[in-house]
Amino acid sequence: MTDALFAPPAADTLVARDRSVLWHPCTQMHDHETLPMVPVVRGEGAWLVGADGKRYLDAVSSWWTNLFGHAEPRIGAALKDQLDRLEHVIFAGFTHEPAVELAEELVRITPKGLDRVFLADNGSAAIEVALKMSFHYWLNQGHGEKTRFIALTGSYHGETLGALSVSDVALYRKTYAPLLLTPELAPSPDTYEGEPGETPKDIAIRRLGEMRSLLERHAHETCAVIVEPLVQCAGGMRMYDASYLTGLRALCDEFQVHFIADEIAVGFGRTGTLFACEQAGISPDFMCLSKGLTGGFMALSAVVTTNDVYQAFYAEYAAGKAFLHSHSYTGNPLACRAATATMKIFRDDPVLERNRVLAAHMAKRIAPLVDHPHVADVRQTGMIAAIELVADKKTRAPFPAADRRGLRVYRHGLEHGALLRPLGNIVYFMPPYVITEREIDFMVETAMAGIEKAVR
Ligand SMILES: Cc1ncc(COP(=O)(O)O)c(C=O)c1O
Repeated sequence: MTDALFAPPAADTLVARDRSVLWHPCTQMHDHETLPMVPVVRGEGAWLVGADGKRYLDAVSSWWTNLFGHAEPRIGAALKDQLDRLEHVIFAGFTHEPAVELAEELVRITPKGLDRVFLADNGSAAIEVALKMSFHYWLNQGHGEKTRFIALTGSYHGETLGALSVSDVALYRKTYAPLLLTPELAPSPDTYEGEPGETPKDIAIRRLGEMRSLLERHAHETCAVIVEPLVQCAGGMRMYDASYLTGLRALCDEFQVHFIADEIAVGFGRTGTLFACEQAGISPDFMCLSKGLTGGFMALSAVVTTNDVYQAFYAEYAAGKAFLHSHSYTGNPLACRAATATMKIFRDDPVLERNRVLAAHMAKRIAPLVDHPHVADVRQTGMIAAIELVADKKTRAPFPAADRRGLRVYRHGLEHGALLRPLGNIVYFMPPYVITEREIDFMVETAMAGIEKAVR
């Protein structure tokens, strides 16, 4: 007998049912009148398989979550085992092995000094936790005057109101601005914005100078500086020199403000090291993790912080210092088990070594785009590569946003079997680590053909 709900759906029926009841994220639903939605029935390694059997190379790791391929069997087996034991339990007053094991592992692998783990269930929630924890730390220390945050221009930290408050991507922020906190914005050290002749290090030094003057004026009222280490992802895969992070750590110490490292997108090997902060030799006060944490299987996030922060909340109940933040699914055992299985793959497989080979191959394949008349910049940090399309190479004048050139690349990708999802006019690659060199060739060639169509 076939359960009607789980019978393989006819592709157009599923799309029609979807369109009558669902509302998709980051989507103008009207677009789907002309842009067909893709019903997916299966994933295999770096590939997604559509209901009609068509295959799509997942060049964006399904919003940067997937590390070791879709339906990775080791993570799948751990989840199946966990399903028969414990699906969920309230995480206040109760604990379980997957959460403890995950926290021990995160303390072991994150930079020295990060010794305490708070769990939440998505990236934005982790940012909310870090912002509240930083504020509450200073309050518990008798500094209730610290109520503000500093973020970088072009930053993205999520879309709940707190996380959106410290984000600076107009597309997401502008409409909701009346609802948000107002952070101080420090100019981003990204290399695309550099002056002629400046090296990435020069840019970092100049931008640190600007951060210093911001801190001179605002440190007394500032809880923390929040940054995406090395790559500002949703802001257009803008990249910067690691020395900025080293300098920022020193400034945060000097001015007594916390350093929040949002490694939700760049953590777990994306930039070439396990964590991006390692390339600057620094340890933040809070590190936010999600996305790749479960290998792309389950929604989970973690804020890893210091014992100094933890101790500021640890007191008799009557002192009223406890951290007040809870999500029903905090520490979900299935999600934690997917995460411990993912961490085990990092221990068992030579992930970073292999990524170095793949990243070098990707660099070689995208290099010819440097000379393209509509490409202003080709940049790469580890397993993240981006190509910035412009109307005029000389002046770097962008294509008008209304042209939606990136969408043309996306359409071309879908027609030819690749899931490319440009950020505006920035075409980028952030594939699962199981991608092969031949698949990289296919991914880049498909994008190049899409770019040709898009700039015409
Ligand atoms: C750097 C960064 N921080 C936070 C988030 C928010 O994570 P989530 O989408 O799980 O809320 C994202 C999501 O893309 C991100 O890239």
